[in-house]
Amino acid sequence: MDANQQCYRKIIIENSNDNSKVNGWKHDRSKSRYRNVFDLIDFDPGNPLSLCELGYGSGYGYHLLSKRFKGMEVTYTGYDYHEDYFNLATKRYNGDFRLGSFKDIEDGVYDYIYAVGVFTLNRASRLLPYFIEQMNSMLLKSKKGIIINGFHKGADCQESQLFYFDLNNLILCFSKYNVRLVVVEEHKHEFFMRIVKHY
Ligand SMILES: C[S@@+](CC[C@H](N)C(=O)[O-])C[C@H]1O[C@@H](n2cnc3c(N)ncnc32)[C@H](O)[C@@H]1O
Repeated sequence: MDANQQCYRKIIIENSNDNSKVNGWKHDRSKSRYRNVFDLIDFDPGNPLSLCELGYGSGYGYHLLSKRFKGMEVTYTGYDYHEDYFNLATKRYNGDFRLGSFKDIEDGVYDYIYAVGVFTLNRASRLLPYFIEQMNSMLLKSKKGIIINGFHKGADCQESQLFYFDLNNLILCFSKYNVRLVVVEEHKHEFFMRIVKHY
């Protein structure tokens, strides 16, 4: 178990209806976070789309996805390495939830791989390289690209338990790839980033 995983181990889910016991993670914002991520997915109604989520938590994002893409040819697979969340999500929803980390995601299967609230906690040591490793892996494994969110250093007041990216540095990390990058900033401290592969 790595340091980041240990950090999530401390979270107690007992009687929780959501992810609100995750430090600094406000469930009431989850809805708009997912909406922003879904807005960044280019969906062509004529073509099927396969999506993979890293870190589904309670599975609430799957629920929102099902409503948003109702009746459309969109498939969902989720990975979360926390057993409690696996149990919670599978109890609540009938999505394809799997227990595993980014390393378990199959190669070349999903159009987009996205993560909401996964690169946000400031607990593990050497966190930035670990986050970048995960994002790189997600990008390489996806067919089209990835969508992620996070907090950035432009924030006026920063909470110690949250991780703040230097956005320019993060963008530079992907300059070695032939990709197109879209960054949407929100509330002065949060960003949503879509990284799409060029063909
Ligand atoms: C703050 S919660 C966010 C949950 C949900 N995405 C949301 O926005 O409501 C982060 C979730 O990501 C999972 N997670 C973090 N890093 C992960 C990794 N490398 N592989 C799999 N799951 C991960 C945690 O177990 C936790 O359930």
